[in-house]
Amino acid sequence: MKFSLPGYDWSHLARRFLPWRQKAEAPEEGLANPRLYQEEWRQRLPFVPAGEVGKRLGFGEALSLPRESLGKSLCAWKMELDDFPILRFLYRNFRPRRHLEFGTWQGAGVCCCLESCEATVWTINLYDGEKKPDGQWAYGEPLPADEVKLLWGERQEATGATVLCRTDSLGFIGRLYHKRNLGHRVCQIYCDSRAWCTRNYPSDFFDSALIDGGHTRELVANDTRKALQVVRAGGLLLWHDFCPDAEVVQNCSSTQGVLAAIKADWDWLQSNLSDLFWIEPSWLLVGIKR
Ligand SMILES: C[S@@+](CC[C@H](N)C(=O)[O-])C[C@H]1O[C@@H](n2cnc3c(N)ncnc32)[C@H](O)[C@@H]1O
Repeated sequence: MKFSLPGYDWSHLARRFLPWRQKAEAPEEGLANPRLYQEEWRQRLPFVPAGEVGKRLGFGEALSLPRESLGKSLCAWKMELDDFPILRFLYRNFRPRRHLEFGTWQGAGVCCCLESCEATVWTINLYDGEKKPDGQWAYGEPLPADEVKLLWGERQEATGATVLCRTDSLGFIGRLYHKRNLGHRVCQIYCDSRAWCTRNYPSDFFDSALIDGGHTRELVANDTRKALQVVRAGGLLLWHDFCPDAEVVQNCSSTQGVLAAIKADWDWLQSNLSDLFWIEPSWLLVGIKR
């Protein structure tokens, strides 16, 4: 399909393709009463205020959130603006040497780690991109035509200033760490994380892992199990799209899969982790391997 619409407003397409703004398909139980829903999670695991995270993890630095994040509704939370400062803080203080990230996308999260510490990052992404249940691209974004003209990959051609690109497919995956000349510290793995083989990695190979690939309950459970097979004792586990806020869960299917996977594996997680807590406010769950 060809586009030749100079000056065309792509913003509705960007909104349509961004998966974490999708409407919930199968709401979690208990959402009818938001206050009780949140209370149930609070009884299950600690909600640690952002300012106390450093102390809890034994860091010498306290986390302070950007002024713009404070007082913001969790529904308006954005990973790049609001969670990346938290991830940078965690990487800067934990200082992993080998970090694992499920779900590379364009590599913004990988850059957070690379720029905050000396780590080498192993990161996994489907090579042909994620599909929505109806077969549409899960991640599409209009990018400046100039910027992407040398990248090969699935796109819808345009003669205007922007091109609609399938940003989680080969050619676009990890483009941001290449753009910042950081590719020499990345091992990119192209596969479905369900097929990723951990057999030849020592069980204490990774110091930390971020689980941020597919967001269905099945995929989060798969990625959690694999991460725990290869992260060392005392290592840091992070899950993105974990936010036990009823309004967020009602409106965002990605958080439902993550919450459901954590709930389903609760006893197993408790026996494999020495600590597990939600950073309040954020979309991040933190665990420490036992
Ligand atoms: C939310 S994005 C990752 C964002 C990234 N972590 C960051 O911080 O910039 C999720 C990514 O997971 C990928 N993904 C989805 N299902 C996957 C699977 N089964 N195996 C590997 N990657 C998958 C998608 O293609 C997408 O690029």
